[in-house]
Amino acid sequence: MKVLVIGGGGREHAICWALRRSARVTDVVCAPGNAGIAAVATCVPVLQDDVADMLRVVNQTEPQLVVIGPEVPLAAGIVDALETRGVRVFGPTREAAQLESSKAFTKDFLQRHNIPTARYRTVHTMEEAREALPQFSLPIVVKADGLAAGKGVVIAATQAEADAAVVELLPMNGSVVIEEFLEGEELSFFALCDGTHAITIAAAQDHKRIGEGDTGPNTGGMGAYSTDALLPDELRTWLLRHVAQPTVDGMRAEGTPFKGILFCGIMMTPAKGVAGENVVSGFAPKVLEFNTRWGDPETQAILLRMETDLLDLVNASIDGTADEISVKMKPGASICVILASAGYPAGAEKGVAIHGLDTSTPAGVEIFHSGTALNAIGDTVTAGGRVLGVTAQAENLRRASGKAYDALAGISFRGMQFRRDIGWRALNRERGQG
Ligand code: AMP
Ligand code: GLY
Repeated sequence: MKVLVIGGGGREHAICWALRRSARVTDVVCAPGNAGIAAVATCVPVLQDDVADMLRVVNQTEPQLVVIGPEVPLAAGIVDALETRGVRVFGPTREAAQLESSKAFTKDFLQRHNIPTARYRTVHTMEEAREALPQFSLPIVVKADGLAAGKGVVIAATQAEADAAVVELLPMNGSVVIEEFLEGEELSFFALCDGTHAITIAAAQDHKRIGEGDTGPNTGGMGAYSTDALLPDELRTWLLRHVAQPTVDGMRAEGTPFKGILFCGIMMTPAKGVAGENVVSGFAPKVLEFNTRWGDPETQAILLRMETDLLDLVNASIDGTADEISVKMKPGASICVILASAGYPAGAEKGVAIHGLDTSTPAGVEIFHSGTALNAIGDTVTAGGRVLGVTAQAENLRRASGKAYDALAGISFRGMQFRRDIGWRALNRERGQG
């Protein structure tokens, strides 16, 4: 079977790598791909925000299945366009993808369906904002309504900062969500959905800040890990029952069934003052946001641990049979450490030669490319803010982390930045358990 994957980052490298391991997949084409993806797939150029251009690639390459990686093609309506043409495609329709592309839609949806989330107000004018802001205590969270590539959220320490954030974000989509600040540790919960059922894939934790100890500006994600300990049975059951399944049920009831990956961004808030059903294992988990696709770099870590054939997940989602499969992960842990360019996240130095990619990696280690390209003489060079994701899997997080940092010691490029502390919270807990 020939599969076309849309996207060109580390997430798509991991998806192409996992599909290539399926016995039923003979060809993988990736549009646009990158220098690393070219080792496991045929790469063809495409404009990811242009449905007509993506259809051109589908017509040219004639895949039996199309897998969409990023949010931009989903919000552009690529799934609707392919379904209309009878092409098998994995991912949500444009309307269902509003769970990521519109924060205002999502907050109203969560409230309508009694799914726990932060208290909020959606405002459309400065007057409404100035009336709403004083109703929230500091700090106040201000969010742009549309897709903003991770740059649409401001945590304002003062009313004046919150006011300025509304001034900045309101013109982007004509509405802004003002939200109560939630305290706690974040958890990314991934569910596979088929329009009717939601099943668990795995949980992971991202590290969004550029600096060690979670300091400095936000990035697309500087590293992630996935362990069994992140998702005890009780929490897994609770998240399915109180978040993922009610979301699938609600979308179905509203005539916009959700298929694909539901990435639930959860804040594990303390349970004090909360009672009953909303409490699990001493926490009151609340939805921060949904994404309607795999996370980057969470996917690199999760797919390295996943024993189930990725093609089985994709088929179950498309065919409405997710209740007939279960997802098996290798026990233990996996980790992905991002190597980023000089200047990231404000900008990125590009075209810099990368050294150390020609040596083979040990068992359980994969180097997924995020932003790389081949230059005129065929050398691999940097081509984006996030460049590589050094990913490792082992029986526990300490071992996985050791393998990843050993492997990245052999890689270098001018201005390379990375965090030495990916997984620090969980490593401390692992140590605590002796
Ligand atoms: P979002 O795009 O909604 O996930 O927001 C991006 C990041 O901002 C999240 O991963 C959190 O770290 C932070 N954030 C968003 N909403 C809140 C909130 N209500 N309270 C605290 N932090 C938040
Ligand atoms: N790592 C966060 C995201 O993919 O949105």
